[in-house]
Amino acid sequence: MAHASQRSLSVESFKVMDVLRKANQLQAEGKHVLHCEVGQPETGAPKTVAQAAVAALTEPQVMGYTDAFGLLPLREKIRNHYSKKYNLQTEIPTSRIVVTTGSSGAFLLAFTSCFDTGDIVAIASSGYPCYRNILSALGCHQANIPINQEFKLTAKELHNEIVRRKAANLKPINGLILSSPSNPTGAMLSPDELKDLCALCDEQGIQFLSDEIYHGISYGQTEATALQYSQNALIINSFSKYYSMSGWRLGWMVIPEELVEPINSLQQNMFINAPTISQTAALKCWDGDTIEELEKHVTKYRTSRQLILDQLASIAEIDDTNIAPADGGFYIYVDLGKENVAPGLGSVKMCDLLLQEKYVAMTPGTDFEDPDSSLGDRRFRISYAGGIETVRQAMQRFHEFFPTWVERVKKAKGEKKTKE
Ligand SMILES: Cc1ncc(COP(=O)(O)O)c(C=O)c1O
Repeated sequence: MAHASQRSLSVESFKVMDVLRKANQLQAEGKHVLHCEVGQPETGAPKTVAQAAVAALTEPQVMGYTDAFGLLPLREKIRNHYSKKYNLQTEIPTSRIVVTTGSSGAFLLAFTSCFDTGDIVAIASSGYPCYRNILSALGCHQANIPINQEFKLTAKELHNEIVRRKAANLKPINGLILSSPSNPTGAMLSPDELKDLCALCDEQGIQFLSDEIYHGISYGQTEATALQYSQNALIINSFSKYYSMSGWRLGWMVIPEELVEPINSLQQNMFINAPTISQTAALKCWDGDTIEELEKHVTKYRTSRQLILDQLASIAEIDDTNIAPADGGFYIYVDLGKENVAPGLGSVKMCDLLLQEKYVAMTPGTDFEDPDSSLGDRRFRISYAGGIETVRQAMQRFHEFFPTWVERVKKAKGEKKTKE
């Protein structure tokens, strides 16, 4: 009989995928489901990229392996992207650029190369759930650091956690992984905040992994890369979001010099290389036509974002201080607040009813919060990656649904009071 390892059994599911499965089931039954759960652009790959893939299909070398770190011309384009976009003073050597199987593949390489079993890695709560789940699978422990009132984890919060652990005689933190713009909150660190965080990590010998997957999708704030402030930071990025190529399974890392050899061995053994066809097509990602097309997507995200914020603002029961800033990415994260939840009636139940009754899929906060905190069942995430019309209809249905939710909560609280 097959036997699953304890390690694999202890890994939580990625709950947004569970919501997606239920939503797809309803869709298969013929229901008009509106997907606001997954963070997946509805737009396909840029035209130039798709055309390049088709053209490359008959070239024999495209069917073969590449170097473990990826095609050199692609790594050169990534290097140029950093010089141009972030105005880096020194060019990054291509030997420090690794093309990966999405940023998810990068996490495995990065975590395995940076951390040993039992190491402590700090993550933000709220934060991207797969950090916690992959780290657990690798036998690393997490230090969950609550985000501040601005929905951010800054040097101050990290410093407080370092001090707290010291005072409590707990093992010190070995690493930190953080995404800015954040999934789920959309909050972005300012360049100064990022600089301070890099400085603190360097001073304390904490390996900083900066997940910059939502760069390119922001609404006015300056995007800074950790590379501007530290040579030790490890940068993770992807073609899944801004470049609208989620299924192509392509990402990249910029890694510190010391990790080049270990990551080379790991990539060779674990993945050999990222998909060759995707690498070949991605060479078109920085062409003028491509960027023009991608910038149009960002304009649409901006419209969808405003649409959701306006609809939420018109709901009296939702306090606007409970809505995360949505500076970047394509998510809006909402805290229902104590008033809009009751025992058994939290955001998990709300998202479930919203899907069952209105066929609108949204993700409860349990995916993004420290499992020991009750906040997960109070918060939920709306993804607006799915296009303006989807968002418009979804928010209309949400608007119809929400008063019925408030009634349910009031009733539950009223009934509880009578029982007392
Ligand atoms: C913050 C963050 N990092 C990484 C990923 C994984 O992306 P991929 O593996 O497609 O590059 C996601 C996906 O939603 C994400 O939100």
